[in-house]
Amino acid sequence: MSFETLLYEKRDGIGAVTVNRPEKLNALNHKVMQDLRACFEDIQKDDEVRAVILTGSGEKAFVAGADINELAVQTPVEGKETSTRGQRVLDLIENLGKPVIAAINGYALGGGCELAMACTLRIASDNARLGQPEVKLGIIPGYAGTQRLSRLVGKCRAMELILSGEPINAQEAYRIGLVNQVVPQKDLIATAEALARKIMANGPLAVRFSMEAINHGMEMTQEEGEFLEATLFGLCCTTADMKEGTRAFLEKRPAKFVGK
Ligand code: COA
Repeated sequence: MSFETLLYEKRDGIGAVTVNRPEKLNALNHKVMQDLRACFEDIQKDDEVRAVILTGSGEKAFVAGADINELAVQTPVEGKETSTRGQRVLDLIENLGKPVIAAINGYALGGGCELAMACTLRIASDNARLGQPEVKLGIIPGYAGTQRLSRLVGKCRAMELILSGEPINAQEAYRIGLVNQVVPQKDLIATAEALARKIMANGPLAVRFSMEAINHGMEMTQEEGEFLEATLFGLCCTTADMKEGTRAFLEKRPAKFVGK
C-alpha cells in the first residue's frame, strides 16, 4: 500500500501509519482523510496486521488539526459533509477490531486530538501538547471531539478544554486520563511497539471482543452493557483460543493463539 500523504509499513504484525505532511505539521486536509480511510480499511482486512501504531512525521507534531486553509473557504453544506466524513473515518479507527495506539509525538490539536482520541490507547512524548482550539477560529470540534473528550475525561474537564481552546501539556493530559503514558520522545515508538506486542501476545478475539464490549457498553445502560458482555463472553467460550488459553495455563506453558 502506498499513499500520497501517509507512510505505511508492516513490522512483524504491527501496521505503522505515519501522517506525512511535516511542513504543515501534519494537518488533516481532505486527501489525508481519504488516505487514512483507505489505509485503515486495508488494515482491517489484512490478517497479518494485529495492531497499529499511528503517529505524525517529524518531531514537532502528531497532527496540528484540520487544515485551516480548507476550513476557511467551506460553505455550510461542505462543512457538514466534511465533519460527517471525518467522523466516519475516526469511527472506523475506533471500531477497527484491532488495537490502534496513537504515538503522540508533539502537537495534537483540534482534529489531531480528535484523531488520537479515536485510537484505542494513547502514548504521548514529553513535548506533546493536546487541545481543542477550534473556538479560537469561531468553530467547534467537528470530528466528534465534543463527544469523545467528555467520555474520556468527563464533562467538567471537556468543557474547560473546549471552551477555553487552551492546550495542555503531556503530564496534564496524563493526569486527567487523556493519555495512558508519557515518555521521552526518543522512546515513544519503542514504548508503543512494546505495548502493542504485549497486547498481541493475548488472544486476538478476546482482545477484539473486549474492545467491542467497552466501546459499545459506554453507550448503553449498565444492564444492557452487562448483557452484551455476557453474550461476548459466551462467544469466547466457542473459540479455539479459549481452549488453548485455558489448557496452556493448566499445562504451565505459554499459549499459542490462532485467532479462531
Ligand atoms: N492547518 C493548516 N496549516 C497548518 C496548521 C493547520 N491546522 N497548523 C500548522 N500549519 C502550518 C502553518 O500555517 C505553517 O505553514 P507555513 O510554513 O506555510 O506558514 C506550518 O504549518 C508550520 O506552522 P507554524 O504555525 O509556523 O509553527 P509554530 O511552531 O509557530 O506553531 C502551532 C505551531 C501548532 C502552535 C500553530 O501552527 C497552530 O496554532 N496551528 C493551528 C492549530 C489549530 O488551531 N488547530 C485546529 C484546527 S481546527
